[in-house]
Amino acid sequence: MGSNLVELGASNPATPKNANGDVRSAPRAHKPIRILVVDDEAHVRSMIGATLERQGYNVQLASSGREAVDTLDRNTFELVLTDIVMQEGNGIALLELIHAQRPNVPVIMVTAIHDISVAIDSMRRGAYDYLLKPFEREHLVATVQRALDHRQAIQESHTYQQNLEQVVRARTEMLRQAMEDLEHSYDVTLEALGDALDLKDSETEGHSKRVTAYTIALARAMGISPAQIRVIARGAFLHDIGKMAIPDEILRKPGKLTKEEMDFMREHCSRGYQMLRKIPFLSEAAEIVFAHQEHFDGSGYPSHTSGNKIPVGARIFAVADTLDAITSDRPYRKARTFDEAREEILRCSGSQFDPGVVEVYLKIPNELWHELRSEITNQNIRFSTFDIANPAAAQAS
Ligand SMILES: [Fe+2]
Repeated sequence: MGSNLVELGASNPATPKNANGDVRSAPRAHKPIRILVVDDEAHVRSMIGATLERQGYNVQLASSGREAVDTLDRNTFELVLTDIVMQEGNGIALLELIHAQRPNVPVIMVTAIHDISVAIDSMRRGAYDYLLKPFEREHLVATVQRALDHRQAIQESHTYQQNLEQVVRARTEMLRQAMEDLEHSYDVTLEALGDALDLKDSETEGHSKRVTAYTIALARAMGISPAQIRVIARGAFLHDIGKMAIPDEILRKPGKLTKEEMDFMREHCSRGYQMLRKIPFLSEAAEIVFAHQEHFDGSGYPSHTSGNKIPVGARIFAVADTLDAITSDRPYRKARTFDEAREEILRCSGSQFDPGVVEVYLKIPNELWHELRSEITNQNIRFSTFDIANPAAAQAS
């Protein structure tokens, strides 16, 4: 055995130890790296300890697997070197324990030549490396250094990943906030458009807001996703926006409309669709505007579309629209009750209305419609037209 080999046959009396038999650490300017050496042969662990101490590491020694577990519970280590075959507790079990509980602590197996297959197996079980006895001091030091470098690289990569995840989370939140602000700006713009229509067609005053609230409540009760409800709500709110293009003498005519005037009036669906379809965030809502006067049995206009070919938002809107029309005053008649509206909507289920929507509508108590109507009439400042989480609307779901 050359002079630079770890002397396995004899203990080193010069090795400094503390009161617990631990090898004392060499003084260092910064906190030394802590290494646990586990071996049931006193001279082997002392020799490894002394070699590593000379490199400036803080070394603790354990003479068995059990002692190693106790030491690990009390202290933090950056690296563990363990014998494989020991009298008390084997090194593989210790490796598996460390690997499971402290995966960032590399473990180097120390073994005799006849254990080589076990050493290789230990690598498969998560050991960083192994040292075959007898080994040169330089080889021990280099293996330890490599393991520590490896640990540091993993830690740095982990820290980098965590920082990156933090940055991504922060940016995602900023983007979400910006989208929310943008969406809010859209809705404020839409409300202004609705107000403009109210000025032109006083009969619809408050109607757009009520019908939007009723549509949202029905859509929620039908289990439609929040994103889709937002689209439907915009379509409901803007359903009559095409009336902006109808001359006042037709729109405000007190008497009955002629056939030509009626045909012109009916163009408000396609005119509204044309107005909105080119606006990216309203292109889907435009489909609802186009189809809002269609009937489930195909007797509506402008395309006589029927059944599920009518967008679901338009089918929901149709019920909400009739509900509001019946329960609102008109110049030629007084408002009727929500009970009367219920009877009328049930009567037209399958002809004007989608029976599936009517079924959901019938399960919702009249109190909800009353509450939504009074919220809008009183211009409750907490109520926003497009607030799909409005507590009153939430009762429906
Ligand atoms: Fe309409």
